[in-house]
Amino acid sequence: MASLTTQCLIIGAGAAGLHCAGKLALGGDAGPTRALVIDHAKRPAEKVRISGGGRCNFTNLEIDPKRFLSTNPHFCKSALKRYSHWDFISEVATHGIAYHEKTLGQLFCDESAQQIIDMLMDQAQKAGAAVWLNTVVEDIEAIATGGFLVTVRRDGMSTRITTQNLVVACGGLSIPKIGATGLGYRIATQFGHSLIDTRPGLVPLTFSGDLLDHTKALSGVATPTSVSVDRTSFDEGMLFTHRGLSGPSILQISSYWRESTPITVDLAPGQNVATQLMARRQSSPKKQVKSVLAEILPARLAEAVCAEQRLDGTLADTGNKALDTLGRRVHQWQILPTGTEGYRTAEVTLGGVDTNQLSSKTMQSAHIKGLYFIGEVVDVTGWLGGYNFQWAWSSAWAAAKAVSAEN
Ligand code: FDA
Repeated sequence: MASLTTQCLIIGAGAAGLHCAGKLALGGDAGPTRALVIDHAKRPAEKVRISGGGRCNFTNLEIDPKRFLSTNPHFCKSALKRYSHWDFISEVATHGIAYHEKTLGQLFCDESAQQIIDMLMDQAQKAGAAVWLNTVVEDIEAIATGGFLVTVRRDGMSTRITTQNLVVACGGLSIPKIGATGLGYRIATQFGHSLIDTRPGLVPLTFSGDLLDHTKALSGVATPTSVSVDRTSFDEGMLFTHRGLSGPSILQISSYWRESTPITVDLAPGQNVATQLMARRQSSPKKQVKSVLAEILPARLAEAVCAEQRLDGTLADTGNKALDTLGRRVHQWQILPTGTEGYRTAEVTLGGVDTNQLSSKTMQSAHIKGLYFIGEVVDVTGWLGGYNFQWAWSSAWAAAKAVSAEN
């Protein structure tokens, strides 16, 4: 069996792992043994490649710790402050990657997400880190005198890697098709860390029965909404699908939604449908209710809502009570999702490695020296819109600084 010694072994060549490698400033010989990033996938950073519709929404201008979910909401503050979105934006600019703000502070590459991957790979190489793909972790053990012994398999051959620092950056459970596994959680458990229950986040919601029939019939219809659960709400677009509801407002609220809790959808935020229809009854009494509602909502949705309320007549035929009921149906549509589309389509995994046993400054384990957890594997999950990549960059930077300072 081959063996090698490295100062820092990073498991996961995704957003966090590669960024951490690129920020290492280790002494000693340059070359493949200074730092090593391993990944079982064929290609690095597959999620970066498919993110943002291929253009990678790499950060957000409105990064705020309040826009991250965690059992310990304060944990993310230090890393986000010490390595902010401005730091990453400046790196993107230095690499000559053109970008633009799409909406709500979301920054995307003008051309391709591949530019971000190339930048991360370039920075890792310059920092003296090698990247081994198609590499499977077979075993990890702590060395009594300090450090770790990690056995990996690559090209049919096993290698024993001795490392002082082990950075776990293997992400969450979302999209197993492109390489997500629970390895990070298993490593955490092996070393005595507790886990916060995981669940899919930023994921479409599914429905059954009449509600499913309703969403199926409207599949493809998109409309601006305000969607809320308890006291949290998001004003963004919503999409009807053949399985339920999707679109940004639904993905956002899905991270706050818990089973058996209804969500409330305002299909015409900022308007007052009943008042508007009553006013139109004065000016255009002969107009059909559904055609006037179609001036506010997409026509197919207006028609479906009117059919459901049995409003197939003119405005003149329709009394205030019916218009009030219609208004409530439009502004306070309360529905109970049956579930989510699960990890198959979820953008992120909520929960993960409990932050109470990690240093918020370094991401290092509180009880195992040299063991770090960064990125999505940690119980920190951002909103939709570049927040999750920013957490990957910031937590990776914090760990890289700490590892570099120790070596
Ligand atoms: P990440 O998942 O990036 O990397 C983990 C790496 O570990 C992978 O390369 C994987 O192959 C490897 N790995 C896993 N198990 C392993 C094992 N057993 N052995 C070896 N290697 C293993 N966020 C955002 O801010 N803006 C956006 O535009 C998007 N868009 C987006 C689209 C889609 C479709 C998804 C699924 C997700 C997003 N996200 C996003 C979320 C974002 O991709 C995610 O939060 C980060 O990639 C997390 O970075 P990590 O490095 O922690 O995990």
